[in-house]
Amino acid sequence: MTGQPPSPADHIVILTGAGVSAESGLGTFRDKGGLWEEYPVEQVATPEGFAADPALVQRFYNMRRAHAAEAQPNDAHHALALLQRDHPGRVTLITQNVDALHEAAGSDPVIHMHGALAGALCATCDHRWSAPQEMRAGEVCPACAAPTARPDIVWFGEMPYHMEEIIGALSQATLFAAIGTSGQVYPAAGFVQIAAEAGAHCVEINLDASATVSDFDTAIRGPATETVPAWVDGLLG
Ligand code: OAD
Repeated sequence: MTGQPPSPADHIVILTGAGVSAESGLGTFRDKGGLWEEYPVEQVATPEGFAADPALVQRFYNMRRAHAAEAQPNDAHHALALLQRDHPGRVTLITQNVDALHEAAGSDPVIHMHGALAGALCATCDHRWSAPQEMRAGEVCPACAAPTARPDIVWFGEMPYHMEEIIGALSQATLFAAIGTSGQVYPAAGFVQIAAEAGAHCVEINLDASATVSDFDTAIRGPATETVPAWVDGLLG
């Protein structure tokens, strides 16, 4: 195990996952009753699934976009926004979530490594624009007119966004926290190892032990709306 307890000069890198939005009413993926139980991941979260049945994929993300639009940020999102405001330029917030609840709580910037429900992407020319609330199969790209508009979500088999910036932040981290993520999806699941190699103190904040728990220095268990505000209070003294 590596790393020291945090000090005010830290560069803090935080990775969030579905567990941080669970208490805002948005389902996680792999917990009991999670999204991947009801919707086969290969059908709704791969380029091959989209090619096979674009209407099904658009319906899945339309549903998630509608749920996300109704959700409010919870105390965990608010606490992380407070930490970021209190340490300007010293908190890199990376999320695997495609909702906008960190932004709704006031976090800025937020690195969306798996894309965002709010975005649309042309599968032909890579043009990006704001997604309408409802996308349709065969929707036309406003730039190249190809009927290949898709949600701007990173699917399995695709490269997550902003990796260079993320690796740069991890290699300078003195404190790394993974919050509400099961540690089953790479490359995000490997961030703890990069941070640990850089000498960061690594904290897992999650309901259950993640798949990578042994890579962390400390584990904090409990619902994010309780554990995250308490952890942030501790950092802010
Ligand atoms: P998972 O569904 O895999 O894991 C959610 C984690 O959150 C679990 O470890 C739970 O124990 C924990 N959890 C649930 N409720 C919680 C709460 N109230 N407080 C704290 N922790 C809680 O979700 P992710 O790890 O985010 O990717 O999944 C990673 C990626 O896999 C997603 O971004 C998505 C998915 O496939 C793509 O779609 C590309």
